[in-house]
Amino acid sequence: MNAPAKIILFGEHAVVYGQPAIAVPVSSLRAEATIRPAPVGTGLHIEAADLNEVLPVDLESDLVDNALILTARTVLKALNAPPPDAIITVTSHIPMASGLGSGAAVSTAVARAVAKAVHVDITLEQTNQIVYEIEKIYHGTPSGIDNTVIVYEQPVYFIREQPIEKLTIGAPMTLVIADTGEASLTRIAVGDVRKLYEAEPERIQPIIMEIGDIARRAKTAILNGNISSLGPLMLKNHALLQKLTVSAPSLDHLVDTAMEAGAQGAKLSGGGRGGNMIALCAPHRAEHIKEALLRSGAVRAFITKVT
Ligand code: PMV
Repeated sequence: MNAPAKIILFGEHAVVYGQPAIAVPVSSLRAEATIRPAPVGTGLHIEAADLNEVLPVDLESDLVDNALILTARTVLKALNAPPPDAIITVTSHIPMASGLGSGAAVSTAVARAVAKAVHVDITLEQTNQIVYEIEKIYHGTPSGIDNTVIVYEQPVYFIREQPIEKLTIGAPMTLVIADTGEASLTRIAVGDVRKLYEAEPERIQPIIMEIGDIARRAKTAILNGNISSLGPLMLKNHALLQKLTVSAPSLDHLVDTAMEAGAQGAKLSGGGRGGNMIALCAPHRAEHIKEALLRSGAVRAFITKVT
């Protein structure tokens, strides 16, 4: 059982305020959960392979100190199933706290494994709802975009509290995703934008609206396969995110590096302040841009195709 990483192409932060955002799954980077049977009467345990921890899932407990346990408990309650005698082992290849949706992907993989362990077909809708509940506990006031794109594993044009709109990609896009190596908690960036919004609504509201406009224009361009118009929209979106104070010198530096190396556009992706940036590239330039980003301080960079 597994789930992909994700990146946000347009609209992060503004999406929290009801503006649209566009996100796509990154299917090459995944979180996985495997199930093995355990002796009768031992109940369900979750093993986090990376953390060297094996924890019991206790249906009676109200403790919320571990997202994996909470996910498993929420799934069992939603499916009205007793804990199976099993050990679920979770492994993730998605860097944490870097805007790639590692938390939502791990929760999704665990939810799927728990459902399988109790022999119930869990729907995408149910999974999405459960993972959103977990995101809310750990990430403050998430818009729901991460869980949606990860659970459905489809490009989405997302507006908070509206039916899911899947986005058809008119022409393939080549992206380089590069990591600043600076872990950053989305909850803090989102909270700081909220404070800024409350302190200066007349200055911040237009910035949020403008990001929304960019996402709307990007949607049309993506649908029509008009990739060349996306680069400038990404740069504009990045500049507006700088105004919301969620960029960082490291992100700005990688955006500049990508542009100097011939990218069509670049921006931070996700919560910002660190984490990842993305660069849109002509396919034949992608390797060169990736190398330039690695030389300029990115701790990790890889090429992905959005189709
Ligand atoms: O989880 P991240 O870091 O990719 O950020 C999610 C995007 C935000 O718009 C910043 C927050 C949200 O809940 O939509």
